[in-house]
Amino acid sequence: MNDAAIMPSDTSSGIDALREDFPVLYQEVNGKPLVYLDSAASSQRPRQVIDAVADFERRDHANVHRGVHILSQRATERYEGAREKIRAHLNATSTREIVFTRGTTEAINLVAQSYARPLLNPGDEVLITYMEHHSNIVPWQQVCEQTGATLKVAPITESGALDVDGMAALISDNTKFIGMVYVSNALGTVNPVKRITALARERGIPVLVDGAQAMPHLTPDVADLGCDFFAFSGHKMYAPTGIGALWGREALLEAMPPWQGGGDMILAVRFDRTVYNELPYKFEAGTPNISGAVGLGAALDYLNAAGLDAIAQHEAALLDYAHTRLQEVDDLRIVGTAPGKVSVASFVIEGIHPHDIGTILDTEGVAIRTGHHCAQPVMEFFGVPATARASLGLYNNRDDIDRLVDSLQKARRLLGRD
Ligand code: ALA
Repeated sequence: MNDAAIMPSDTSSGIDALREDFPVLYQEVNGKPLVYLDSAASSQRPRQVIDAVADFERRDHANVHRGVHILSQRATERYEGAREKIRAHLNATSTREIVFTRGTTEAINLVAQSYARPLLNPGDEVLITYMEHHSNIVPWQQVCEQTGATLKVAPITESGALDVDGMAALISDNTKFIGMVYVSNALGTVNPVKRITALARERGIPVLVDGAQAMPHLTPDVADLGCDFFAFSGHKMYAPTGIGALWGREALLEAMPPWQGGGDMILAVRFDRTVYNELPYKFEAGTPNISGAVGLGAALDYLNAAGLDAIAQHEAALLDYAHTRLQEVDDLRIVGTAPGKVSVASFVIEGIHPHDIGTILDTEGVAIRTGHHCAQPVMEFFGVPATARASLGLYNNRDDIDRLVDSLQKARRLLGRD
């Protein structure tokens, strides 16, 4: 498959035209044309990504790094090619710093167990924020239990923004690690990562950034962010599930022990001693998700050709439109109103449980997520058990928002709220 085949079909007419690249959107659900507003849970794939994966499976599949035969060489080239695309996209120094993982969750667990666990002692502190996804809470709780360290949580404000002064006040000589989300999946808040990494650097504290929700909407640059680790998942950014990556500073990764043992992470194995492979392979035990990596590389090509700035502008205008139109729905309250937020409109409607909203919207062909969004502390902070959440992808348009609002009005009528 040549690179031209991965390009979006039509960038000349703006982002709106790219919807046609996403075949899944052209179907009826419950007799109504599908409106997909659940991209923060998992985005849809353009046919360019679907075709890249299918093309690899049809012509090139074999195991990587293991064979002298031509298919293994092609598979290795495509797998390593994807690693280079990630390096370039994140503005990382070297592909030695890019470790393929199953996704953000596995990347954070790797850092918690391989970097933090050997370092932490009783009395040490790990600092996270109140708006973390469970995947950036539970691994730190586990490592604190294992080491006797303490988990500290930086406050957020009523709008769902990070309380930067509150976070700064929690950074002390005891702080040994900071984990923070770049873009909140539940609120859409974009965190001032650079302000926190600047504070952390003064005290030599490493910072991990959960970039899962940032990847489809922003242009993460790890050199500019000043962080030490950056984790993300393919399936939030138009690539397949089960693939993602961890970027880490080479010196830190070099000093870390392998996390999982197995094939490909070794140079030599004897019963009395194993010599581990060099970076990044010492963290990639076992046969990886090769076609997933190919799909991730194709998704990066697609995003870059579409233009990250153009996507951001399209989504910002659409989010403004969604906020304006949602205000027409009586008793609806937006949860998360931080200035500069992206892509997510979380809301509650007084007197209607979010699950009932989600179920009625589904009968109208409108797919949103309802629940705690794997961020239960955020729900607790706002005093709600759950929210309804409409989240945007580059393929959404004003018609989608109009259908959302019409369906919410219908839900209110059906549930006797009018
Ligand atoms: N973290 C995913 C979400 O926000 C599953 O829905």
